[in-house]
Amino acid sequence: MSHSPPIFPDLAGKSVLITGGASGIGRAAALAFAQAGGRVVIADVDEAGGVETAAQINQTGGEAIFVLADVSQSDQVKNMVAHAVQAYGRLDCAFNNAGFEGRLARTADVTEADFDRIIAVNLKGVWLCLKHELNQMLRQGSGVIVNTASVAGLVGAHSMSAYGASKHGVVGLTRAAAVEYADKEIRVNAVCPSVIDTPMARRGFAQFPQFRQNVEAANPSRRLGQPEEVVTAVLWLCSAASSFVTGAALPVDGGFTAQ
Ligand SMILES: NC(=O)c1ccc[n+]([C@@H]2O[C@H](COP(=O)([O-])OP(=O)(O)OC[C@H]3O[C@@H](n4cnc5c(N)ncnc54)[C@H](O)[C@@H]3O)[C@@H](O)[C@H]2O)c1
Repeated sequence: MSHSPPIFPDLAGKSVLITGGASGIGRAAALAFAQAGGRVVIADVDEAGGVETAAQINQTGGEAIFVLADVSQSDQVKNMVAHAVQAYGRLDCAFNNAGFEGRLARTADVTEADFDRIIAVNLKGVWLCLKHELNQMLRQGSGVIVNTASVAGLVGAHSMSAYGASKHGVVGLTRAAAVEYADKEIRVNAVCPSVIDTPMARRGFAQFPQFRQNVEAANPSRRLGQPEEVVTAVLWLCSAASSFVTGAALPVDGGFTAQ
């Protein structure tokens, strides 16, 4: 059975910023937004991967540029948003998706340096993006933002306490910003994926041979999710089809958090 859902077609001409667009969910999102007619700004610390995503889009008749940016660095995030606005005139949609999993360890064994880096990228990074994107969207009078949280932002995840704290934080930021800007024509939502078949997940599978089987067995759907299955939710949240949806932390998890 195919798990490649159709894309939504109503994003023609929209300016879209995607962080973490060099790989995995972010790359799949960049390709899908471009296919839906969006003009895409791909931001990442991985220059080669980001340039490759942009090239894939431009070679197939779409429109994309790459901006090198570490989302944990305030000046780089400010520059990233300014670059997007300079390129396409405004910022209609932002997908704050850059993040990483960190080293697996029980809470008492997490190092302070590892904790600080996870929070700096996954949580502060999303806040920095929100700050600059919201200011731009307020100036232009509308906009839509989707943040990538995780099922680890909704329930406890063994050996991922710092990651889980960062993703619970992303859900909190999403809800607060949604409440603050709902009457300003700005919607802010989060997607909460379970394990998705991306380079991030494959790093875990390579390290722990039983990991993939355990993940599949623990999910009611008995499989991993595909990046495109997250992306269709993101496109829907960015489209007018979800015009009354804001502050949602939407599980895209095959039923994992429904158990
Ligand atoms: N794959 C999963 O199982 C899964 C599940 C739930 C949530 N997520 C979340 O989805 C998002 C995307 O993950 P993925 O699976 O596509 O992983 P991935 O590793 O394939 O892609 C993540 C991208 O983010 C970029 N990135 C990392 N740190 C960055 C930084 N400081 N600044 C800018 N870019 C940075 C990486 O270079 C990479 O291109 C992450 O936020 C992750 O936490 C993933």
